[in-house]
Amino acid sequence: MAKFETQVGIIGAGPAGLMLSHLLHQHGIASIVLEARQRTYCEERVRAGVLEHTSVEMLRNAGVSERLEREGLRHEGIELGLRGQLHRIPFVELTGKAVTVYGQQEVVKDLIARRLSDGGDLRFECGEVSLHDLRGSRPWIGVERQGNVDVIACDYIAGCDGFHGVSRSSFPQEALTVYDRTYPFAWLGILADAAPSREELVYMHHERGFALYSMRSPRITRLYLQCKPDEDIAEWSDDRIWSELHARLECLDGWQPTEGKILQKGVTGMRSFVVEPLQFGRLFLAGDAAHIVPPTGAKGMNLAIADVHYLAEGLRARYRENDCTKLDAYSATCLRRIWEAQRFSWWMTSLLHLFADASPFDCRRQMAELEYVVSSRAAATTLAENYVGLPLH
Ligand code: APR
Ligand code: PHB
Repeated sequence: MAKFETQVGIIGAGPAGLMLSHLLHQHGIASIVLEARQRTYCEERVRAGVLEHTSVEMLRNAGVSERLEREGLRHEGIELGLRGQLHRIPFVELTGKAVTVYGQQEVVKDLIARRLSDGGDLRFECGEVSLHDLRGSRPWIGVERQGNVDVIACDYIAGCDGFHGVSRSSFPQEALTVYDRTYPFAWLGILADAAPSREELVYMHHERGFALYSMRSPRITRLYLQCKPDEDIAEWSDDRIWSELHARLECLDGWQPTEGKILQKGVTGMRSFVVEPLQFGRLFLAGDAAHIVPPTGAKGMNLAIADVHYLAEGLRARYRENDCTKLDAYSATCLRRIWEAQRFSWWMTSLLHLFADASPFDCRRQMAELEYVVSSRAAATTLAENYVGLPLH
């Protein structure tokens, strides 16, 4: 058994855990990051890809935006498709702000490289983590690996271990309220070796189901199809995927996605999920450990970054000025932004997907709402200001 000491123990090396560790380091606060998976797994897993203006600013202020600013694709709007026609929502014109397309695994790579060059303590393939004495002044983390148990004594623990991690389940059940909503569909996503044939993302409403045209780089396209929640990926040959993408995305003006070798495919479930509060004793939840949004609003990675911004600010005030006000307000401060993003993600999802149980009234209402969004500057601005990211409170 080995014993370690640190100020903040961080569970999980996703965007939340890594960014927190980096921000704390900049504030002179020590941390140890414990990650169950291998470094290459964290760096290669294909996940989200859109950074809000607000997130880019946070990464820039933290001095980790160099590659992102060089390689990220600045998008000044998106296109909404209905009845085979595309309508642009011009973010910069409506809000003065843009978003940046840059894969989550690229953010993860940049943060890992930076933590390691700053001498950070990142422990990949750490073993089985358990959390103890959360209500005391010196909580500790047990890390068991091949029968050997390490003990890490901390002042605070940050649960950044995603939806399936141990942190949230370390809260006593009665200390948490769960708000959950599932959707009667999922997304089948592919990564294709094809140069994007459109400059901006296309969110397409279609009678066969929603489709999204996105990208990762000037050579790689990312595309999604609304599918059944229990869709069996084995039933989707590459030909079937392309033929469905063409059926849903092709426009009256002749635009269609360019095909390429499918590099990766998978099915992503859709849910809205929040727990309250985000704090129990000295344990704080951040990112997917505390909330999940359906991907339609592109908010997942952005919320994770915003959470740890607030957590780092709270811990800085606590260590620098012995002022716990911000740390005590962490849960309430984050939840305000989380619910704004939940509402927006739910709304984008409801606006664009085909609902199997929709009545003829519901279908007409949905179409009227889409027509309103693409024809009213006020409605388009509402979408735009949420998509580029609301200002921090
Ligand atoms: N012990 C140690 N590490 C763990 C454990 C555990 N018991 N359980 C999970 N982890 C690790 C996972 O392997 C993962 O690397 O925690 C990390 C959590 O990272 P993410 O799932 O990326 O979560 P987060 O950092 O909150 O980022 C949220 O991820 O799902 C996307 O759309 C979402 O973009 C959003 C982002
Ligand atoms: C993606 O590129 O993976 C992506 C983009 C926009 C979304 C969701 C996912 O709304």
